[in-house]
Amino acid sequence: MKGVLICGGTGSRLKPLTDVTNKSLLPVYDRPLILFPLQVLLDAGIREIMIVTGTEHIDQIAAFLGSGASHDCAFTYAVQEKPGGIAQALGLAEEFVAGDRLCAILGDNVFLQDISKTIRAFRGGGHLFLKEVHDPERFGVVELRDGKPVSIEEKPLQPKSSLAQTGCYLFDHRCFDIIRGLKPSPRGELEITDVSRWYLDHGELAATVVDGPWVDAGTFESFYHAAMLVREKRLQEQSSS
Ligand code: G1P
Repeated sequence: MKGVLICGGTGSRLKPLTDVTNKSLLPVYDRPLILFPLQVLLDAGIREIMIVTGTEHIDQIAAFLGSGASHDCAFTYAVQEKPGGIAQALGLAEEFVAGDRLCAILGDNVFLQDISKTIRAFRGGGHLFLKEVHDPERFGVVELRDGKPVSIEEKPLQPKSSLAQTGCYLFDHRCFDIIRGLKPSPRGELEITDVSRWYLDHGELAATVVDGPWVDAGTFESFYHAAMLVREKRLQEQSSS
């Protein structure tokens, strides 16, 4: 299985912090944000990882991550010239994935629960990780029936459930054909939700609801919240060691 770590977007909601560095290098308590989604891939035993970034401060990202040797993995870099959506960023990984299965994760997603078992068990189709949230209209929203997705909508005004699609996606190689056929959404992006919907319409989408904390760190508040959660975790780890 291949990993694709997607650090898109301009980080405009985090200005002026993102004037000096890329959002993914900003600190979350004791380490740069990007190390959290990277850890999800490493925990799942994924060792070949493509980093997709925008053009902002890409030099700093490459200087920080390097070849991957210090994380016992190999990084390949791709540049998304202009922000065109998560699905467009994922599309850049087609040759790299080379017919394999993939785990794509957004560079601003902090999972504090181990989801590696589900990632390792993935065999094909599509698989989403969902989280109960109080503001589902900000996310891709998935409706489940008997544990199976029955609908998925990107930022609906009237959400059918309170389950947000997190930024961790398991797809087989067919996702690249699907991405090729996508049309930009009203916000001008190729939506990852439309990729998930293809698998849903073909009866091949599964989902796991994550119980532990999950943060999509894109604002000052969510960075602060993520830092507090990580701090709590570190203190717990220290007291139990
Ligand atoms: C993206 C996806 C959305 C998902 C979210 C998770 O939203 O489009 O479906 O719920 O990531 O972080 P965006 O960050 O582009 O607003």
